[in-house]
Amino acid sequence: MSYPYQIRSLEQYHHQYKQSIEDPETFWSGIAENFYWQKKWDKVLNWNFTEPSVKWFSGAKLNITENCLDRHLDILGDQPAIIWEPNNPAEQNRILTYKELHQRVCRFANALKNNGVKKGDRVCIYMGMIPELAIAVLACARIGAIHSVVFGGFSAQSISDRLQDAKVDYIVTCDGAFRGAKDIPLKKIIDEALLSCAFVKKVIVYERTKIPVVMQPGRDVWWHDEIKNVSDECAAETMDAEDMLFILYTSGSTGKPKGVVHTCAGYMIWANYTFVNVFQYQSKQIHFCTADIGWITGHSYIIYGPLSAGATTLMFEGIPTYPDAGRFWEITDKHKVDILYTAPTAIRSLMSYGTQPLQNKDLSSLKILGTVGEPINEEAWHWYDENIGHKKCPIVDTWWQTETGGIMISNLAGVTPSKPSYATLPLPGVQPVLVDEKGNEIEGNDASGNLCIKFPWPGILRTTYGDHERCRLNYFATYNNLYFTGDGCLRDADGNYRITGRVDDVLNVSGHRIGTAEVENAINMHSGVVESAVVGFPHDIKGQGIYAYVILSNSADNTDTTRNGILQTVTKVIGAIAKPDKIQFVSGLPKTRSGKIMRRILRKIAEGEMQNIGDTTTLLDPAVVEEIKNGKL
Ligand code: PRX
Repeated sequence: MSYPYQIRSLEQYHHQYKQSIEDPETFWSGIAENFYWQKKWDKVLNWNFTEPSVKWFSGAKLNITENCLDRHLDILGDQPAIIWEPNNPAEQNRILTYKELHQRVCRFANALKNNGVKKGDRVCIYMGMIPELAIAVLACARIGAIHSVVFGGFSAQSISDRLQDAKVDYIVTCDGAFRGAKDIPLKKIIDEALLSCAFVKKVIVYERTKIPVVMQPGRDVWWHDEIKNVSDECAAETMDAEDMLFILYTSGSTGKPKGVVHTCAGYMIWANYTFVNVFQYQSKQIHFCTADIGWITGHSYIIYGPLSAGATTLMFEGIPTYPDAGRFWEITDKHKVDILYTAPTAIRSLMSYGTQPLQNKDLSSLKILGTVGEPINEEAWHWYDENIGHKKCPIVDTWWQTETGGIMISNLAGVTPSKPSYATLPLPGVQPVLVDEKGNEIEGNDASGNLCIKFPWPGILRTTYGDHERCRLNYFATYNNLYFTGDGCLRDADGNYRITGRVDDVLNVSGHRIGTAEVENAINMHSGVVESAVVGFPHDIKGQGIYAYVILSNSADNTDTTRNGILQTVTKVIGAIAKPDKIQFVSGLPKTRSGKIMRRILRKIAEGEMQNIGDTTTLLDPAVVEEIKNGKL
């Protein structure tokens, strides 16, 4: 497959960028011509950021799976679409060609239909990283059902919240999932979640671990039974450009995660365009994105970006350190991976094992390296460059968000310059601005401020499911006429962007977004807790760790048993990813006279900054600060 819209030189980048800003409609209709449409659009873009309302390619009809599968069959039918590497290296890997993937997606799409799934229904997918997860996602898209993938690490309570918010009709899950040395009882967790979600009509269960599960007659069916006696053909549903494709929950500064909504045409084009350009994908290359499909990175750069480009995407079931810390390198060597896209937290973690796990691993197939999810520190960047890329692979540092659908600011591998710890330049179509607290645009280079985007790009979120006002308030109300990212940012003398981290109450732990309010709510559910305040602190591997200050109803309970109880509560309410690294029991929290917790002070103490914590005289009880300082963990 060729990509006429692939930018091949710095000069071309500047030219394309300029064109995308000066005449976005002509620019994006030119790109859209490279896709398969059942009917073309009447209007490229209608938008305002006040409601907000953004519509790309209005009037167009398409199905994203025809772009990801059908259109490749003639020429790429026998090429691997998905290479799957199991958790346990002793197990056989699997390869699905485009023909096979098409067939399996159609079969499962028919199975979904036979179970009553219709266009517009919400389907929650809670599975491990196996090809059937990608098949389930694509099968939903095939018939116009809206998929909502939930990461396999979330608890029953979190799933239940999401099922209720999205009014989910159907669930696709597995008996269990293998992750490192553990097996996670996914079906059992779903059963628990469903105790409070009687509205779910059917649960389709794929057999992966073969660990026995309870099947509820009338509600639960086996995947392998449902795909028997169904056709290999399933006509793709006709979708409007702006019909919903998926919902993906992400954390914000409030206690409740929001369902970010992406639609068919704009998301498809953005995932594809950014994939082809940032990674400079060339025909037949093997792209290994190590993310989980439960996060946006997996949606865009394991499934939709690569498959819409006719690429070979490598999907890995396990974790980087199982059975040992050489697993990524072994996979790279075994499958001759060309492009490796991972998170700084994984790099830092693997770095801590030294170079021994790299011995006897041939990494010479690698051409391009990428990072995503959090700022990458220079040390990790250089380690990646020297030990993995052997100084011959460009590294792309890609900044983006669940809400942006695809990469927004990044160098284009080998085409535009990289700069360690900088995401560098915006992609065509992306108009970043830095604003001060009052929302005034800070012009010129060598500046810093809050990062906003002033014009829609095709992959922008359209709403938050079931609550459009929440979308407006979260992203479009802080600054007039701007999309606010929640990130702080620097712009250097050459116009390169460096993301410095969240400026709201959202933590980035191992590249995962976690709201402090969400963790506080979970901690407060422990029966012995009166109140809590959660902040982030710098963590060598995770980027940010979670520091919780907790007031107990009985201060004599300040024991490890209570601490463990709190950790268990958080695991039960959210999932293990949200467990605090440190819990400090305190008798009070620094509050203003109006009762607002001064997180700035708590953050400074958690960071170990004891001297310059600022003015404490306005606090209700300044003495509490000294107590907290003295008890710092
Ligand atoms: O703070 C930024 C950080 O991750 C946030 C988005 O998180 P999420 O929606 O979970 O998506 C992660 C994968 C795209 C951003 O607001 N972030 C993401 N990429 C980078 C980053 N911070 C610095 N550099 C990056 N390359």
